[in-house]
Amino acid sequence: MAASAAWAQQVVASATSPNGALAVEVQLDPMGKLGYDVKRKGKEVIGLSRLGFNLANAHKLDGGFSVRDSRTSEHDDTWEQPWGERRYVRNHYRELRVEVEQKNRDKRGLVVVFRIYDDGVGFRYEFPSQPQLKDVEITDELTEFVVAQPATAWWIPAGELPGLEELVQKAPLKEIGTANTPLTVRLDDGTHIAFHEAALVDYASMWLRKVEGQKLRAQLVPSSTGPAVVRHGAFTTPWRTMRIADDAAGLYMSDLELNLNEPNKLGDVSWVKPSKFVGVWWGMHLQQTTWNAGPKHGATTDNTKKYIDFAAQNGFRGVLVEGWNQGWESDWGHGGADFSFTKPYPDFDLPALSAYAQQKGVRLIGHHETGGNLVAYEKQMDAAYKLYAKYGVDSVKSGYVHEAGTMLFPGADGRPHYGNYDSQEGVRHFLKAVTEAARYKIAVDTHEPIKDTGLRRTYPNWLSREGARGVEYNAWGNPPNPVDHEAKLVFTRMLSGPMDYTPGVLSLVGADNKVFNSTQAKQLANFVVIYSPIVMAADIPENYAKYPKAFKFIKDVPTDWADTRVINGAVGEYVTMARKDRKSDGWYVGAVTDGNARTLPLPLSFLDKDKQYVAEIYRDGDAADYRNAHRFDLVVETKTVTAKDTLQLKLAPGGGQAIRIVPKK
Ligand code: NOJ
Repeated sequence: MAASAAWAQQVVASATSPNGALAVEVQLDPMGKLGYDVKRKGKEVIGLSRLGFNLANAHKLDGGFSVRDSRTSEHDDTWEQPWGERRYVRNHYRELRVEVEQKNRDKRGLVVVFRIYDDGVGFRYEFPSQPQLKDVEITDELTEFVVAQPATAWWIPAGELPGLEELVQKAPLKEIGTANTPLTVRLDDGTHIAFHEAALVDYASMWLRKVEGQKLRAQLVPSSTGPAVVRHGAFTTPWRTMRIADDAAGLYMSDLELNLNEPNKLGDVSWVKPSKFVGVWWGMHLQQTTWNAGPKHGATTDNTKKYIDFAAQNGFRGVLVEGWNQGWESDWGHGGADFSFTKPYPDFDLPALSAYAQQKGVRLIGHHETGGNLVAYEKQMDAAYKLYAKYGVDSVKSGYVHEAGTMLFPGADGRPHYGNYDSQEGVRHFLKAVTEAARYKIAVDTHEPIKDTGLRRTYPNWLSREGARGVEYNAWGNPPNPVDHEAKLVFTRMLSGPMDYTPGVLSLVGADNKVFNSTQAKQLANFVVIYSPIVMAADIPENYAKYPKAFKFIKDVPTDWADTRVINGAVGEYVTMARKDRKSDGWYVGAVTDGNARTLPLPLSFLDKDKQYVAEIYRDGDAADYRNAHRFDLVVETKTVTAKDTLQLKLAPGGGQAIRIVPKK
């Protein structure tokens, strides 16, 4: 029999956020089924939603519950990020801890802990150590999220072939299928909610399955060998999170998931360097060069030297080298078995190049493409990091190109098998790759990654990741990224954390002259709007030479911020962001729009009151339009400004604007 919201519910515990805006109630129904609801400013935003589990090795943890204990407490502190969108993060919440037990099932206990912030709610389950349930084999997590008012969703399907690289779709929430998170919804009254999770460790990733109406249920990513999650002894699940705000800007401003992660476990991480890089990369995607050896091999000693020189001349710290290692000849995207992570191709001289780079103040950025073959990769991982560490390579881009469901796992029993990259096994692997790298003081930028759940707080060497459609799709076409892509990403994917988006293709064309849905000014704005501490300026040096005026912004823009403000924004339409440099008094602004031209006001009230500044403005020209040759129309001009001024940012269709604001000398 299903629990029905119509049955008499009993509120067994409740608490509010520090300023009272958000309120959570925990309820039991007459069958002892557990549920919760969330109100914002007195109005229900999450209706009665169920909590519990189905298990494979024991009777379900659902129903028959009574409350053993419930407690509230408050926490308020501020912590410092080694790098990030802002330096200091306030962690202010009220905690509601509810312990329940199933009297008629050997008194098995379960704890639900809510942390209620003014800008969102996180909750997780704690499984205590208990002899009557030593091993926990979870087949289903019954957690629900019942969105209480009609809503629009921006979502990507879960479990589909390109993983997280689906186009973001807009639809009435009641019409979506099974979604990946972050899942962003806008209620009809304007309230925005983003559903996600925090601290995904040793547990299956959570998809959200639309059950009926606007009811979403957690769907744990299936394992191909057994229950979705298998744990022993006491453990906690990841946090289930809801950022809740008046508008899209408010969603981005929340630090909910970071706050719900554990503090830094790596200690001194001064070896993790936020920075910009270039690489023998776009040439490959343009099909001018190849990853594999041969007449068009990209990662040759000579070509890499050219990029090192270019990086040194223009102030880039890194040079990414893909295709340096043997094994690219096979069908690597679907196999990965032939990759060596320690044997360079004969025309790539790693020791000489690393010495050449270091002498010029540049570092090589390593590359491990695994093709999703963890059997081959895990065997070589230690030796691979060791090799890079020996040659001063302190950041590695990794790659897991494969189609969903076909990651090859070594298997706990030693028998390799295929499965989901975001299953519990996959989750373990991605974190292992990062913690092993940390042993060698190497930072990781994961492509085709597990989604970000804020683990960068705990492991700050997890610098960035891909996890959405990057600029490479514009090289390939079929189709290129749509004109509203960035305005969607900021309020969906980017809520989870940094993205290695590879911006800054000033030539605005991919392979075979496939055209970008962007003006040149928007390419510059993307450096501010799409956050990553490690950012590739993706275009080839020849193209940067053609556009020196625009290139100046790319050279100037930092990648590590003291503060971030979302000035305005609407999901999939536009966004304006201002970010303060960590190392200077400069501010950087980025604004992007969809296919519509717009004028966005930018009040400069974030600047110091008593200072004069120079604003270096990179804007769409009056005729600029992403649909024709005027996409290159870029005006660069300067203005003297103060905190009292409001600039009007005029964006072309598919356009953008980037501004560097520095104190006037
Ligand atoms: C896909 C990645 O996103 C891209 O950046 C990389 O060049 C290729 N895989 C090869 O590893």
